[in-house]
Amino acid sequence: GLKIVTIGGGSSYTPELIEGFIKRHAELPVRELWLVDIEAGKEKLEIVGEMAKRMVKAAGIDCDVHLTLDRRHALQDADFVTTQFRVGLLDARIKDEAIPLKHGMIGQETNGAGGMLKAFRTIPVVLGIVEDMKERCPNAWLINFTNPAGMVTEAVLRYGQWEKVIGLCNVPVMAVNTESALLQKEEKDLFFKFAGINHLHWHRVYDKSGGEVTAELIDKLYGPDADPGKIVENIRDMRFLSDQIAQLGMLPCPYHRYYYMTGNMLQEELEEAQHEGTRGQVVKKLEESLFELYKDPNLDYKPKELEQRGGAYYSDAACEIINSIYNNKGTQMVVNTRNRGSVSDLPYDSAVEVTSLITAHGAEPVHFGAFPPAQRGLLQVMKAMEELTVEAAVTGDYATALQAFTLNPLVTSGDVAKVVLDELLEAHKTYLPQF
Ligand code: NAD
Ligand code: G6P
Ligand code: MN
Repeated sequence: GLKIVTIGGGSSYTPELIEGFIKRHAELPVRELWLVDIEAGKEKLEIVGEMAKRMVKAAGIDCDVHLTLDRRHALQDADFVTTQFRVGLLDARIKDEAIPLKHGMIGQETNGAGGMLKAFRTIPVVLGIVEDMKERCPNAWLINFTNPAGMVTEAVLRYGQWEKVIGLCNVPVMAVNTESALLQKEEKDLFFKFAGINHLHWHRVYDKSGGEVTAELIDKLYGPDADPGKIVENIRDMRFLSDQIAQLGMLPCPYHRYYYMTGNMLQEELEEAQHEGTRGQVVKKLEESLFELYKDPNLDYKPKELEQRGGAYYSDAACEIINSIYNNKGTQMVVNTRNRGSVSDLPYDSAVEVTSLITAHGAEPVHFGAFPPAQRGLLQVMKAMEELTVEAAVTGDYATALQAFTLNPLVTSGDVAKVVLDELLEAHKTYLPQF
């Protein structure tokens, strides 16, 4: 049987992970699941951990759920390690959102200044996990969902010297579901070809007769008369400029709104922050009510309310990756993995988010090739920004951090970039020993 270790086990997403293992138990024999958290998350770990135990019991499967604050002990002989932690919890996220916003910049937890700060806090912890894995479970796979998932994967590959890593996001999963439904086709009858980096990828879609249906989907989703609707809960359904999307010739991801519609998104964020608060503040309330539900000793299944979180279905996708590796299934999934030439516009060794086949030896990216200028320009700037951010997170070098801020299109460059960087570094200093 398999031993799975989940770092950040106190997350409210944990019931989805459990559901994912239960659903696959016939082909994926998970016998031990260790949920690891830290002192600050102990109460959450206990509540959601007890709920996990009830779920497993109700399903009648043979799996022991362990709760612990001792990561090194938990990691011993693990087969798969999944990471879903948030350094500094939601209070840190709220600062990542509110501080840039105060200075007239997008306040978002994975993109812009906030995303870079989240990388600074997260990367040293992830690299510490990798060091423990080298000692305790040198053959295990690391399946990372901790954001910013692309930069975390890049850090593990480049600085952790750890090849067995796959980064995961639910955005492609949601897009595949939405678009299949829109075309009234089944997912298996369509081919989705994604390429780019986490939260900044584009894709094409083909049907089973060999025709490309990308233009039809662009028109249905973003044409002049389209109602864009929501793909993920955390991003409002802001329209795009239909001419601009048509020119791309590819489907954008929901996070492109921050880059293509910056002014509009900023305006909306400012208004929303005044009324219901930042997304982190909204999520804090949502999380409180989820944990109230999880406390119910009779609740032994994943409640519907979890779908109000932006990351819905990402833990299920993680279970599918583990299943595909364990059973060498060759399933087609969109993951963060080393480029190896699949996107020729990006460095060979970088992390990219691409359609891949998931096999026993990991992710095999499907070759994409080169992008047209509109995609290539933004993508190369953002990858360079990621490289600088990861380097700053590892070295704690202030000038490198400032360079990353300057390069990010969502950060206003110049004196105000320095002001925001300094304020964020100060606000998060307990989590930034490297600076
Ligand atoms: P959360 O705030 O509930 O944090 C999860 C747990 O991590 C908490 O219980 C916390 O105590 C714990 N934690 C913090 N620091 C830790 C450490 N050093 N070691 C072990 N545990 C630690 O977070 P959440 O809302 O459940 O999200 C978890 C993470 O997953 C975040 O980084 C979030 O951005 C990410 N996420 C990713 C996707 C995706 O598409 N990849 C989707 C949703 C969420
Ligand atoms: C999805 C993303 C995640 C993101 C999350 C936020 O959009 O793929 O990477 O962090 O949802 O959801 P939340 O409910 O925490 O705002
Ligand atoms: Mn994501």
